[in-house]
Amino acid sequence: MKHTDIREVLDKDVYLGKEITVCGWVRTARDSKNVAFLALNDGTSLNHLQIVIDKNGDTALPEEAAKLGAALKVTGEVVKNERNNTNEINASEITVLGVCPGDYPLQKKFQKLETLREMPHIRVRTNTFNAVFRVRSVMAAAIHRFFQEKGYVYINTPLITGSDCEGAGEMFQVTTIGYSEDYKSEEEYYADDFFGKKTGLSVSGQLEGEVAAMGLGKIYTFGPSFRAENSNTQRHVAEFWHIEPEVAFAELDDIIELAEEMIKYIIKDYMEKCPEELKFFEQRFEKGLTQKLLNVVNNDFEIVDYTDAIELLKKADVKFEFPVEWGADLQSEHERYITEKVYNKPVFLINYPKDIKSFYMKQNADGKTVAATDLLVPGVGEIIGGSEREADYGKLIKAMEEKGMSTDGYEAYLDLRKYGSVPHGGFGLGFERIIMYCTGMANIRDVILYPRTVGSIK
Ligand code: 4AD
Ligand code: MG
Repeated sequence: MKHTDIREVLDKDVYLGKEITVCGWVRTARDSKNVAFLALNDGTSLNHLQIVIDKNGDTALPEEAAKLGAALKVTGEVVKNERNNTNEINASEITVLGVCPGDYPLQKKFQKLETLREMPHIRVRTNTFNAVFRVRSVMAAAIHRFFQEKGYVYINTPLITGSDCEGAGEMFQVTTIGYSEDYKSEEEYYADDFFGKKTGLSVSGQLEGEVAAMGLGKIYTFGPSFRAENSNTQRHVAEFWHIEPEVAFAELDDIIELAEEMIKYIIKDYMEKCPEELKFFEQRFEKGLTQKLLNVVNNDFEIVDYTDAIELLKKADVKFEFPVEWGADLQSEHERYITEKVYNKPVFLINYPKDIKSFYMKQNADGKTVAATDLLVPGVGEIIGGSEREADYGKLIKAMEEKGMSTDGYEAYLDLRKYGSVPHGGFGLGFERIIMYCTGMANIRDVILYPRTVGSIK
């Protein structure tokens, strides 16, 4: 169907005086005796194109065309609307492609996000989701460009895996048969299953990413990760998109530098490419968003040692719900205090106690901490988790033993430490979390097309 994108028509003077065809859905309709105005949106732009129908002229306005949600094909001349300095169309022909009856759910101008969540197939037609998904697309492209320009190789790691990378037991099981009482033991059941062993959906591509980095030097992944976390928060989904660079010959400070450079690059690119969307989010969802992002781009992130963070929290003039003590995992109230109240900017927390972090992290010389980092940002909390990896074969085995892990299934991972082991590290960025941060959307369910959360799948 030959037609022009509304995005093109809206502000390009080359179209003035030309007859063109556009397609789209009716967002608003005003129909009076002499003239009718239809606001048409085809998804290519946040802004609508005004279609003007002179009812005293030759153009027929089909009754079904002036209905909210109706799909139209419109031909007409592009003219400048002097009042708002955008282009509009004087229609000469209107075809209804798809009628839209009165029970169309988007009758009210503003609907609650909670209500829209109940109809993911309809909410994409609202301004909010038009903006969210365009920003998501622009940021995905920026991430690829960032790594490609720096010579990183894009790797696709498997989604079905036999090992639980984070060791936190949050894996969805993959099975074709399901357990039954007929099996005498778990081993017998798994042996009978598709792969002949217990398998699940990957929580992270890191372990395979490390394999790739040990041959290709610098790699990144960008794909889904799955977590069967039973937590119903604004920041967790069971299926999220994960960006995981892995770098050979790199230590913790190199990883931190890379993460900061990447975040600044993608935010800058978003601000350049999506000014309309940014303005929209600023007006509707987060006052001060533009200034916040400018501050991120123009200032250094903070780097704070976990041990110093604990001191800050102990001295804080705030009553926390969870106690603060060295060795305990930080709760989100603690993270928020540090990133929002103390620094009001992104903060890399580093050198966490080894007991609260994963087995693969590089053990520091103090014997108590590991070379890990989480990047915390105001409003969202953790958006990145990463570390330098333990490259010493003996130390890694010992860490696994201490955590009660079996080395079964990790032979290849251990081999990396046997054959030409090198210092290396990487991080994981939660794609939805950075979108939340950049749009001001407070709930992760509103930045992914189909959110999967505990007890909910649409
Ligand atoms: O901190 P995490 O668990 O780290 C890893 O998976 C490492 N293997 C990454 C690496 O070093 N290659 O997860 C990384 C990030 C988190 O900081 C968060 O942004 C996101 O992934 N994330 C989630 N996002 C949405 N919903 C969830 N349930 C998430 N779990 C983690
Ligand atoms: Mg983490």
